[in-house]
Amino acid sequence: MTDRYAVLGNPIGHSKSPAIHAAFAAQTRQDIRYEAILAPLDGFTQAVAAFAAAGGRGANVTVPFKEEAHRLATRLSPRAVRAGAVNTLTFSGEGIAGDNTDGAGLVADIESNLGFPLAGKRILLLGAGGAARGVVGPLLDTGAGHLTIANRTAAKARELAHLFVHHGNILGCGLPEIEGPFDAVINATAASLAGEAVPLPAGVFGPGALAYDMMYGQAETPFLAAARAAGATRLADGLGMLVEQAAEAFLLWRGIRPETAPVLAALRAQLARA
Ligand code: ATR
Repeated sequence: MTDRYAVLGNPIGHSKSPAIHAAFAAQTRQDIRYEAILAPLDGFTQAVAAFAAAGGRGANVTVPFKEEAHRLATRLSPRAVRAGAVNTLTFSGEGIAGDNTDGAGLVADIESNLGFPLAGKRILLLGAGGAARGVVGPLLDTGAGHLTIANRTAAKARELAHLFVHHGNILGCGLPEIEGPFDAVINATAASLAGEAVPLPAGVFGPGALAYDMMYGQAETPFLAAARAAGATRLADGLGMLVEQAAEAFLLWRGIRPETAPVLAALRAQLARA
């Protein structure tokens, strides 16, 4: 019997997750099928229930349902609790287990793929929505020296930082109050989606700084273009994070960690051709 998995989101048409998991399955010789399911905005719970009832073994969850998935899960991993959101569900006789692999995916991409260790580093995280919250715990777990969370709406950055005050050296502020320089600047805002760059004060990028946009696209994102102009010398988009969070989900479900490098290279080539 082929085990079934899926990604649920809205919209979902352009999801790369089915191709990524198909590549992982071929590489590890796992007999799985992975599909994309468009869940109605007011029908996420029903869509999950229908998929599980049809024999689904697990599901990834993407925008805008990660918080709803967190409420739906009957058991949460510690990292899902900290993230306040769930991107990976596993169905079993014992209920619905919820986990969050986004932060682990980001850290794996930065530290392993890009070869940029975060221990002791000064990190700036832009944004204070769900995408930002999902990665704060894993970023602090790297042993980062300091984490500033900065957001257009300063109060949200302060609230998010407050949730993690006992986990590391962390500060929340508005964009004009940012005090650089930083070793790594990570964009978790939705600004790139709107084709906008996040307005940053001068002096944010220290020497050799990494600029990382959790978004990705065919062209350089507005954040990365602005970072380049502001002196960042290492630039990366979120395609590697996407592949790494998928690998972590695959490991949870199948107990085997796929090699991500060839899958990321194939996706990158495909994006360049698109
Ligand atoms: P997500 O789940 O993707 O994080 P979200 O919860 O809606 O989505 O959060 C979007 C984030 O992007 C917020 O931090 C938002 O800032 P505000 O809290 O001030 O709204 C940020 N954001 C969106 N558009 C932006 C822009 N043009 N410039 C700067 N920040 C932006």
